[in-house]
Amino acid sequence: MFHPDGPTLPQLARQALSSTVRGYDLIAPRFDHTPFRTPDNLLQQVVDHLDPVDRAVDLCCGTGAGLQAIRPLVRQELVGVDFSEGMLDIARQRLAAGTGLKPTLVHQDVLAYDGEKRFDLVVSFGAFGHFLPKDQPALSRTIARALRPGGRFVFVTGRHPGALNPLTWAAWGFNAAMVLRNAVIRPPFIMYYLTFLWPDCVEPLSRAGLEVSIVHDGLSAPYQRAMLIEARKPSSP
Ligand SMILES: C[S@@+](CC[C@H](N)C(=O)[O-])C[C@H]1O[C@@H](n2cnc3c(N)ncnc32)[C@H](O)[C@@H]1O
Repeated sequence: MFHPDGPTLPQLARQALSSTVRGYDLIAPRFDHTPFRTPDNLLQQVVDHLDPVDRAVDLCCGTGAGLQAIRPLVRQELVGVDFSEGMLDIARQRLAAGTGLKPTLVHQDVLAYDGEKRFDLVVSFGAFGHFLPKDQPALSRTIARALRPGGRFVFVTGRHPGALNPLTWAAWGFNAAMVLRNAVIRPPFIMYYLTFLWPDCVEPLSRAGLEVSIVHDGLSAPYQRAMLIEARKPSSP
């Protein structure tokens, strides 16, 4: 459907009819050939704004594209967390190649991950749609719990495109289909568009004790609508 090596329509349908974890396990070998994998051009733009750090963690690391991108910046410890073993298998293969730190891959629900306040940098790419609004406070607390004082959570989001934008209607249509699917099929597949947008993301992150600010309002083409955001844990409580 997307690429000769990408998933076919029936495979995508099977994914959507599975639980979130099982869906990603199924699609993992083909995931890198879908538009759901964060593109290298976007990852590189984020990396260009980061300084070298001792410890970093990528939450919902998937097949490891984000880990691979930030690896050259990390001196001591690099961790990826994801609840799909299939996605982690691909990440393992990807990261076995190349130089730099060998990341630790943790098979776990991110909401249960305890980073023990040791990371200078937390990142997460392309995964906020998997967290319902009711889970965003817990996600924010997980991030805050992973950061050392002075550490930063850096992520990409955007503003709501507005009701007149065709993208909004496509997203609302997709979300409506998912609400319907999850009302009739168990277990649910949690994936909704237009979540954790600016400025909605500020509240849960602030409540978790992080200081949120815009690093860049608009990235380079084709991501002019994307925003690079930083949520910093204060150095002293
Ligand atoms: C769209 S993929 C993005 C993967 C990668 N970050 C990227 O940008 O290419 C979303 C990933 O989030 C993971 N995920 C979703 N919810 C999760 C949760 N609660 N805990 C751990 N992993 C989760 C999925 O297994 C999947 O690998």
